[in-house]
Amino acid sequence: MTTARITIDRDFTIAEVPRRLFGSFVEHMGRCVYTGIYEPGHPQADSRGFRRDVLELVRELGPTVVRYPGGNFVSGYLWEDGVGPVEKRPRRLDGAWHTVETNAFGLHEFVEWAREADVEIMEAVNLGTRGVEEARALVEYANHPSGTYWSDLRRQNGAADPFDIKLWCLGNELDGPWQIGGKTAQEYGRLAQETAKAMRFVDPSIELVAVGSSNRQMPTFGTWEHTVLSHAYDEVDYVSMHAYYQEHDGDVASFLAEAVDMDAFIDGVVATIDAVKAAGKHTKQVNISFDEWNVWYQSGLDTDDQPHVITAAGQWREHPRLIEDTYNVTDAVVVGTFLNSLLRHGDRVKIANQAQLVNVIAPIRSEEGGPAWRQSIFWPFARVAQLARGRVLRLAIDSSHVSTKRYGDVDAIDAAATWDEENGTIALFLANRSLEEAGDLTVDLRGLGASSVRSAEVLTVPEDGDRKSANVADDQDRVGLVPLRDVDIVDGAVRATLPPLSWSVVVLDVARA
Ligand code: AHR
Repeated sequence: MTTARITIDRDFTIAEVPRRLFGSFVEHMGRCVYTGIYEPGHPQADSRGFRRDVLELVRELGPTVVRYPGGNFVSGYLWEDGVGPVEKRPRRLDGAWHTVETNAFGLHEFVEWAREADVEIMEAVNLGTRGVEEARALVEYANHPSGTYWSDLRRQNGAADPFDIKLWCLGNELDGPWQIGGKTAQEYGRLAQETAKAMRFVDPSIELVAVGSSNRQMPTFGTWEHTVLSHAYDEVDYVSMHAYYQEHDGDVASFLAEAVDMDAFIDGVVATIDAVKAAGKHTKQVNISFDEWNVWYQSGLDTDDQPHVITAAGQWREHPRLIEDTYNVTDAVVVGTFLNSLLRHGDRVKIANQAQLVNVIAPIRSEEGGPAWRQSIFWPFARVAQLARGRVLRLAIDSSHVSTKRYGDVDAIDAAATWDEENGTIALFLANRSLEEAGDLTVDLRGLGASSVRSAEVLTVPEDGDRKSANVADDQDRVGLVPLRDVDIVDGAVRATLPPLSWSVVVLDVARA
């Protein structure tokens, strides 16, 4: 049996839980918007075309902030196409995903949808084909009260009150050769600096995210962040990170350990930010917006029913099926470890967005005219978003190891914990990476005296299933949370047995503040 001992001390905390860590992402890509969140004519659609069944699942998932409208899409997007009378909006070719964008859904629709979903908006501006003026104009359109060309246009278009969008991304993945209007770090650094200035002149209260590397494997990783921040450190608040992981060639042990890479990636970006801060003698602190992360089976990018942009030459379709990955038990456990990694870095990662929200590599799936359901990865996200409150605790973990090809020996039990002093609860988020062995866990709570187990749930392999079991349209609840039975408090310490390949959440009652 795998064993792990976790020591928690009330005096050792990392940060207030940044509630924006539980963000998501809606891109005009595939069926995320069209037939995802928006499908006029669907039996569940409201008068604005928002799917009520999807909205209900989104509320249950509980994202706090949603990034919009892209992604690669934003680098060729003209935001003005998506406002004003729908019948006058142009149809355009979207070169990023090789589709036809009808513009039936745009900024006003997203603002209304976000209100219904109770999420903050994180709006991205196009710095691929556009620049300072269009970004500046969009802030004026969205946030200026009235009495100017752009703000009055918003009012004419039916929104008397400003949208008051606080969080803005200065483009998307502009280091990537696949990006429309990609740039060198020098070009982007200057553009980000000037665009940030101009946007802030319109609304000084906004927060700005500069584009970091598209992933850790980019040849320019590190130097890109350094150059961009050397130009724009004073003008921005965050630098972005993106990372997608998948199982390669059946190497499930390494896949289950990918949070080790995520931890190291974050530490590397923190080091780069701080090097620029020190060299530039800056006093303010730039932090991280991890605004795209997830499991994504990129090796399955070009399939017959979901051809990718590159191989789809000649096929311009509206909202085709794109990268609709079906997630299984293993993926859910990995997602749980990513959420732990983000929590562990809550002192520097202040925003994070799982990519994406519906259909496109998403926790929620929907069919056109049909049902909507939760994928396996829905569960760890929903519980962490709901329960991670108060302060992130700094854990001392002494765990047995599992050996992996890519990362050597790694802890079999991966954990994060938060302490909500006001409500008198501790939430433990626990992954058992071992495929065969149950995890025998002891949690020593120094100075916190747990009195009872309030709730304990686990997601693991179903009795009649395997590690690849998943939820699908005609079997929507195959993978989910069930009670974790083997958990107790013995002599003030928590004792639990975590099934092999599992993700668990345990909430404890402790003394209130
Ligand atoms: O989330 C899918 C795509 O992945 C996004 O459009 C892009 O930013 C990233 O490469």
